[in-house]
Amino acid sequence: MKLPNLIILDEKDKRLHQKSKEVVFPLSLEEKQLILDMQTYLKMSQIEESRVQYNLRAGTGLSAVQLGILKRFFVIVDEYEEGKFQNYVVINPKIKSMSEEMIYVGEGEGCLSVNRDTNGIVPRYARMTIEAQDVDGKPYTIRVREEISIIFQHEMDHLDGILFTDRIDSKNPFKDANLMREI
Ligand code: NI
Repeated sequence: MKLPNLIILDEKDKRLHQKSKEVVFPLSLEEKQLILDMQTYLKMSQIEESRVQYNLRAGTGLSAVQLGILKRFFVIVDEYEEGKFQNYVVINPKIKSMSEEMIYVGEGEGCLSVNRDTNGIVPRYARMTIEAQDVDGKPYTIRVREEISIIFQHEMDHLDGILFTDRIDSKNPFKDANLMREI
């Protein structure tokens, strides 16, 4: 595999704080290629050999806005078993329903655009039902839970110009931890 040449914006870039626009179909060839490149990048960031070779940070999700493209889509590459990857391509997503139960990542969330240590709890829905479109514009419904639900919410926030650090209460970073389940 060849590492795609993607330049990931840092949190200081103002584009990461802007709202992305709905994707219009059909996708251009460039958009389709970008989606493939984003998937390859994330996969290579998770495989130890390529991660070390290219000095990458491991990432599971990536939104177009992180590459400076303000369009409402993201990809997720989830290694659900050693060496086995599940790809999600999520375009124009909308939340249809969510659980009352809230969860958070105990060790804290991370983001390829946030290159510093962070501390604190990001409240997330434990489960959600999402409507989105695939690369052909075909609508689909997906139910997500636990880690994948958190990653979806993290990426959907990117589409609205929100970083996970924006959701941490800086005065009380572990506020309400007792009201949520740690995963
Ligand atoms: Ni992120």
